[in-house]
Amino acid sequence: VTHEPETKQPDPYEAILYPGFPFAQTHPDRLFMIAVLYGLDPAPPEGCRVLEIGCGDGMNLAAMAAGTPGLHGIGIDRAAAPLERGRRYAEALTLPIEFRALDLLDAADADLGDFDYVIAHGVYAWVPPPVQEALLALTARVLRPDGIAFVSYNALPGGHVRRAMRDLLRYHAAGAETPEQAAERAREIARFAGRWQDRTDPYGLALNMELKRIRTLSDHSLIHDDLGDVWDPLSLADFVGRAAAHGLRYVADAERDELKLDRYPTGVEDGIREMVGDDLVAREQYGDLISGRAFRQTLLCRAERTPSPDPQPAGLARLHLSSEHSPDPFADGSYASDIDAACALLAARHPRTARLDELAESAGADPEPLAAALLTAFRRGLVEARTRTARAADTVPERPLAPRLTRLMAVEGGTLATIDHEVFETEDLFFLRLLTLCDGRRDRDELIEKMLESVGSELTVEVDGVALEAAGEDLRDPFTARVDELLDMFVEIGLIVAPE
Ligand SMILES: C[S@@+](CC[C@H](N)C(=O)[O-])C[C@H]1O[C@@H](n2cnc3c(N)ncnc32)[C@H](O)[C@@H]1O
Repeated sequence: VTHEPETKQPDPYEAILYPGFPFAQTHPDRLFMIAVLYGLDPAPPEGCRVLEIGCGDGMNLAAMAAGTPGLHGIGIDRAAAPLERGRRYAEALTLPIEFRALDLLDAADADLGDFDYVIAHGVYAWVPPPVQEALLALTARVLRPDGIAFVSYNALPGGHVRRAMRDLLRYHAAGAETPEQAAERAREIARFAGRWQDRTDPYGLALNMELKRIRTLSDHSLIHDDLGDVWDPLSLADFVGRAAAHGLRYVADAERDELKLDRYPTGVEDGIREMVGDDLVAREQYGDLISGRAFRQTLLCRAERTPSPDPQPAGLARLHLSSEHSPDPFADGSYASDIDAACALLAARHPRTARLDELAESAGADPEPLAAALLTAFRRGLVEARTRTARAADTVPERPLAPRLTRLMAVEGGTLATIDHEVFETEDLFFLRLLTLCDGRRDRDELIEKMLESVGSELTVEVDGVALEAAGEDLRDPFTARVDELLDMFVEIGLIVAPE
């Protein structure tokens, strides 16, 4: 029996909750996509096993499992109370995931099994060095041979600027008796410092940018992310070195836009490549130092695997491709470039997706040059690549169905998971109520009737900013217009499931 000392401080994440979100960049769909492009052979997301370290309230893992057939997962976190939320969703949706209250410092012997994907988002730079080591040791211990790990952290050199602002906020908030009071004092000094607007000195410009960011933060982000006791940004190269000591190797960044050919101004990427050649980590590190990078989302594989230093066209063969870029052909049917010709093949099928081999076969084209053209088009933002076919509807179905997870979230509040594992936030009660009614059994007219019934009971509804108090026929027109508008919007946001 262990006895907690009586003076034990409450866990900060239990004292002030940190509501979880789906993070698309941590989803196995994304990790699979990037890994295959870099020449690796990760497990397909459907049926994979995921470990989320520092999973908070478990909503990222719950949303992943809800949208990915066969995904099994374990979420661990030191703070026990927030895990209840994830457990509630897992139970309501009978998801094959479990949540365990586990401190990384006690994880060395924990029996967790092994995993295709290990995710630690927003943890590494906020925990002290022994916990950082434990995080990498656990990742290395449980990652399967072809597994992919995601670890995000505050990066340098951008962290230097952020630290200056953090020093200001923490200096002013020192002595606050509660975290809420610390947040209030931090906002106070941020407002004060922000009064000095017309600065043109480099420090002032950088500080004002940071103060602008602070103004948009919720209390829980401000308290945990910016005012917390541990906050240790590090460079990509240092992180990769630490991961290597645990037998893990750098693959790439998890952000899709990092694959874009124009992510830096013309000439920068080529110039860096001239300096360091194929050394991907060095190339990325120069990029960070020149661009002022402040956050990294790093993918790792086991050291025995050798990812390629650049995205490979062959990886596209394992993805679903689509394009809306529909260039005009010349009179003889040819196109200005291979890239235009490849996009035209895809655009002709839009919104359906296609696989590389079927595209090559139907066009009678050689798959290799076609793949090379498509990869360039993808990296220019002209082609979309997905791990699985789209599950979101692109037009309003006769009986719209929002995933059960999203409907449950809509009952609880205004933070919703989209089908593509993104976040959508709204406080609009009409929106939320209508979404909860989209259960695949009601058509548009029934949805309108149901919404009319809601007026005056649990729902206060605004149309064009005017509160509608009374129920009755005169509400039918504005309700009809609003329901139609919202159903279109649900589809656009990706909240409605594509019919089978
Ligand atoms: C900034 S939150 C991030 C939560 C979530 N991953 C997200 O991105 O929204 C950091 C999380 O790490 C957890 N954590 C901190 N120290 C830990 C430790 N020693 N062992 C396990 N979890 C820890 C905290 O309880 C908290 O839930």
